[in-house]
Amino acid sequence: STVGDRRPLTVLVAAPRGFCAGVDRAIHIVELALERYGAPVYVRHEIVHNRFVVDTLKAKGAIFVEELDEVPDGVPVVFSAHGVPKAVPAAAEARGLNYLDATCPLVSKVHRQAERLVDAGRHILFIGHEGHPEVIGTFGQVPEGAMTLIETVEDAASVQVADPENLGFLTQTTLSVDDTADMIAELQRRFPNINGPRGDDICYATSNRQAAVKAMAPRCDLVLVIGATNSSNSQRLREVAEREGANAWLINRAADIDWAWFKDVTTVGLTAGASAPEVLVQEVLAAMGARFAVTTESITTAVEDVVFKLPRALTA
Ligand code: F3S
Repeated sequence: STVGDRRPLTVLVAAPRGFCAGVDRAIHIVELALERYGAPVYVRHEIVHNRFVVDTLKAKGAIFVEELDEVPDGVPVVFSAHGVPKAVPAAAEARGLNYLDATCPLVSKVHRQAERLVDAGRHILFIGHEGHPEVIGTFGQVPEGAMTLIETVEDAASVQVADPENLGFLTQTTLSVDDTADMIAELQRRFPNINGPRGDDICYATSNRQAAVKAMAPRCDLVLVIGATNSSNSQRLREVAEREGANAWLINRAADIDWAWFKDVTTVGLTAGASAPEVLVQEVLAAMGARFAVTTESITTAVEDVVFKLPRALTA
């Protein structure tokens, strides 16, 4: 059909969106390891929570496993951006494996803070989502029992502690900025001497992407978030859009779109989680362009220039 036949659609595109510096670095580490050591390179857990990224690396010779004991002797192994319990590099060292740690430096920073709080004799209340690999990795930095998980404001309101004067809190990096503020406020109300970061440990990429959606969503009938269901920061973007009153869906890529969602929609918002590549954003824009007379507008709330250094083993 011609443009004249097509219904007009305004597409607001959030910026920043998509890859953060930690994801970019993690993917780079696998690519450089493949170049340097040749295939196969093993990766423990999805390097970042995105099927497209994982499949692209698989095609280049990466092999993804969930546990270190699935990695044969004598091949390099990369740990994912989410971080790992201390026991994992320890086991790799014991086996003499060549391992590369793609843990995001902003996650590693939380790991070191956890150690410091425990060294200072404080019990840690950790705000995060049960079962997420980042949470498993951060719990694995401290002795068993040194950390308690807080998932909700109700948890913050009811958690029982042995010594209220010797507490610390830390957070996952990919949480809802608003929900986390509520949980921290409750902890600080109940335990005025609790030690913690200034604000929270939510990373710049998570908070910037949420802020962009907050600015964009009130103008949208529908918001599409490109990201995986196991991607915490992507799920939070969908929630932010929904709370701003938009109908919001998480999609892996264009093929997941149900075009019935577009009924009566004149303005759609588009963003992508920190692990979703820009090529999938462009794919969705092209799919909308094939069906509607699209006008795009960028909603830019921040400009990012964060870049993390690669491990020395890959740059030397
Ligand atoms: Fe790191 Fe935040 Fe990305 S913690 S991996 S920069 S979402």
